[in-house]
Amino acid sequence: MTDLRDSFFSSAPTLKARAPGRIEFIGNHTDYNGGEVLGAAIDRYVTAELALREDQRIRLMSSLSERVVDLSMDAVEPQSGEDSWANYPLGVFTVLRNSGIEFERGFEIYFDSDLPLGAGLSSSAAIELATLEALCAQAGVELERSQRVLLAQKAENDFVGVPCGMLDQAVSCFGNPDQLVHIDCAQVRFASVPMPSGYHFWIFNSQEKHSLVDSLYAERNRECKAALAALQGEYPQWKQLVDASPEVIETLLADQPALRRRAQHVVNEHRRVQECLKALAAGDMDRVGELLYASHDSSRDLFENSTPALDGLVDSLRGQPGVCGARLTGGGFGGAAMALTTAAFKNDHAQAIVDQYRNNRPAAPEPAVIHVQTGEGSGVLLR
Ligand code: GLA
Repeated sequence: MTDLRDSFFSSAPTLKARAPGRIEFIGNHTDYNGGEVLGAAIDRYVTAELALREDQRIRLMSSLSERVVDLSMDAVEPQSGEDSWANYPLGVFTVLRNSGIEFERGFEIYFDSDLPLGAGLSSSAAIELATLEALCAQAGVELERSQRVLLAQKAENDFVGVPCGMLDQAVSCFGNPDQLVHIDCAQVRFASVPMPSGYHFWIFNSQEKHSLVDSLYAERNRECKAALAALQGEYPQWKQLVDASPEVIETLLADQPALRRRAQHVVNEHRRVQECLKALAAGDMDRVGELLYASHDSSRDLFENSTPALDGLVDSLRGQPGVCGARLTGGGFGGAAMALTTAAFKNDHAQAIVDQYRNNRPAAPEPAVIHVQTGEGSGVLLR
């Protein structure tokens, strides 16, 4: 692959940026409902190496494919099929340009990654942030971190067409080693929360994904908006779904059971994030673990974004020595479960979880296990 990289560049790259993947620690589907979320950047990254061109072309390549996406800067169109990954960097270029940043010359970017794709670790936000860091550094523009987050989210919303919230981009941008990122999505505020020392993250990627994952995500987003609109009929002061009271949801949405379940999940999950912050501050890791399991159960029963594979993995993890808590991480409908463990949890224990899971689901693909640490937020590595 190094040969492909070398032959891809027309001139030597002049800068390198990178951005991490993320774990959604707790706060499932709360972000686009004005709620709070806790996430962690992980020590797996997408890197973007950039070389300027003499002409007006944009050329993009990733270590995962031999194809080059090559188009004119003035005719940037969404790509499809095998090239659709390029919509993340193209979307970022488009929103930066629309925000007034000038790009006089074309450029080439080569992407590499040690972050598994499609595992619920948000490789897409990592590509967006790595591109944004590289392009801003090239243009000599320094944006506030919060602006970087909102522009990357806009690229995903408007160009890629996924109505996501700001969780993935915020964690990839604001992450720090040994810290969680706390996001208040209504206030657009970001803070670091110390991770208690001695705790570890294990990712169990189910390697299974619903074929309609993107449209199911968009459907949940629409259901949340519909639930809010129904509640606002009586309570116009509620601006976001997380403002609603559980009791009112129960009665006002009694005749719309799917909307009622979605709203209950979001409101309770938002409260779990707040409780989790208190438990972390008090060092009460048993309570943190309970909240992680409660979050998973709520995804399974109320938001219905879990899968038999994710439920199977979390059930195998429940109550195991060294496992503090576990839940699906990210949008759901496939992808990965994450476990928060003590240092006593080792590779052999992870393998035992996989074996138990496979005994229960012999036809399922073998889950891929990764032990990750907290990582560093996006930035430029070399100029
Ligand atoms: C995906 C989205 C995020 C967030 C999570 C669910 O990761 O990109 O914005 O909505 O799902 O919490």
